[in-house]
Amino acid sequence: MVVVVLLLFSASLCLLLHLLLRRRPSRLPLPPGPRGFPVLGSLPLIGPKPHEDLARLAKRYGPLMYLKIGTHGAVIASSPAAARGFLKTADANFANRPPLSSVREITYGYQDVVFSTYGPRWKLLRKLCVTHMLGGRALADLSPIRRDEVGVLLRSLRDSSSKTPVVVPDALMSTMANIMGRVVMSRRIYDESWEFKDMMQDLLTHSGFFNPGDLIPVVGWMDLQGIQKEVHRVHQRFDAMITQLLADHAACVHERKGRPDFIDLVMENRRGSDGETASDANVKGLILNLFTAGTDPSKVVMEWALAEMISNPEIMRRVQSEMDQLIGKDRRLEETDLPSLHYLQAVCRESFRKHPPTPLGLPHCSSEPCEVEGYYIPANTHLFVNLWAMGRNPEVWDEPMEFRPERFLNDGGRGAESEFELIPFGAGRRVCVGKQAGLLMVQYIVGSLVHSFDWRLPDGEKMVDMEEKFAFSLPKAVPLTALVSPRLAPAAYA
Ligand code: HEM
Repeated sequence: MVVVVLLLFSASLCLLLHLLLRRRPSRLPLPPGPRGFPVLGSLPLIGPKPHEDLARLAKRYGPLMYLKIGTHGAVIASSPAAARGFLKTADANFANRPPLSSVREITYGYQDVVFSTYGPRWKLLRKLCVTHMLGGRALADLSPIRRDEVGVLLRSLRDSSSKTPVVVPDALMSTMANIMGRVVMSRRIYDESWEFKDMMQDLLTHSGFFNPGDLIPVVGWMDLQGIQKEVHRVHQRFDAMITQLLADHAACVHERKGRPDFIDLVMENRRGSDGETASDANVKGLILNLFTAGTDPSKVVMEWALAEMISNPEIMRRVQSEMDQLIGKDRRLEETDLPSLHYLQAVCRESFRKHPPTPLGLPHCSSEPCEVEGYYIPANTHLFVNLWAMGRNPEVWDEPMEFRPERFLNDGGRGAESEFELIPFGAGRRVCVGKQAGLLMVQYIVGSLVHSFDWRLPDGEKMVDMEEKFAFSLPKAVPLTALVSPRLAPAAYA
């Protein structure tokens, strides 16, 4: 009897403590934010450029803002301090992504890395990426592939008549996707197959879908805009193609003896030391991530860097002169030159500041209620970090609308990541796994293009159109076209 009473007493005590602890944070206020409308929340305040609308609202309500997007609670961090509060202090609690119906099917039920639940499977997939592709050692081993593909790009631009404008994003996408194709499955897949090219366009167009069903679950089943139907079509198409590619790849494994590619290495190491195993769906999801997250943001920021330099020719000349002094004109830029090219690095950082390719990062979601910066944040709150607003905040950056790489030179570490001032790759546990590779490729490709060619706008065009378009990422609304003329000795393009 005494035991039963003691058990009941302890159980009640636990329940009481649990309730008290759970309730404690609710005494804190929610962060400020717009009241919103019934059911729709603040959805009517957010248009086709959500990063701009959220930045405008943050000016009114502050850098840590709470609003309802449909029926979901969301916090928007728009300052370095607010970003640190979530991605460092409350990082563990925000290590998951929200479940979004628009990506569920395309990611094989969140079996990829980007949307995977934070846990052992996610760790294994990230480890496979780092060990066999994106970590320092693998990255160095793969440098001949990048060198080859940048050579192909430079020669194709040299051979384009100086009267035919180059469509810059198309040329960049082709290079990024062929690098990825060779690294992942030893194929220049983008140039080989029209269908693959078309499918990637399809994927990038539809991965950025904004689905009301995600935001207002009660209308989800109706699929009002036919989005689920479109996502289903794109997924079926991707799955059929990737299944065939993997079968072809497996059939010629003997041809790659002694020089395995990423898929070979993943297949060999798909069982982790803790027994966790990457399934076929995980492998397909991973490939999906690599061909989308691994290509598009780099392409986007490179296009912006070139657009800014064409608009500011004195900056272009300074980058060229830095490279001419170090490299000369008889050879092309090598990745090993990059650490000495401080102005080129500053140009790339400035491009990431003014044009973060993923303006709202990727969404995170809280698992438990918590306190951030003195505010109560409920469980299941979606988090968006407005990287675009942070890069244009006049309290952080002098004359933020100016493209001024000099701000990153000799200034004692302006834009330090540790201060969360410049975090285009995100931060914390879910930080971009391709950060080192992305930075390297952006510097290498932008540097190679500017060292190898003079750039100007097509005849009759006076200014670069700098309008943005919100999609999977934030590219230029009007693709950059330009005329190039070679500036290196002919042998340097070999
Ligand atoms: C300029 C280039 C790139 C930019 C600006 C960029 C940006 C980002 C951002 C903002 C995130 C979300 C971080 C967060 O949730 O806090 C992310 C995640 C991710 N990125 Fe990148 N990225 C780039 C290049 C790459 C490359 C080259 C790869 C792979 C080859 C890659 C693969 C991924 C993956 C797999 C994730 C999900 C990580 C996770 O959820 O654990 N990215 N990226």
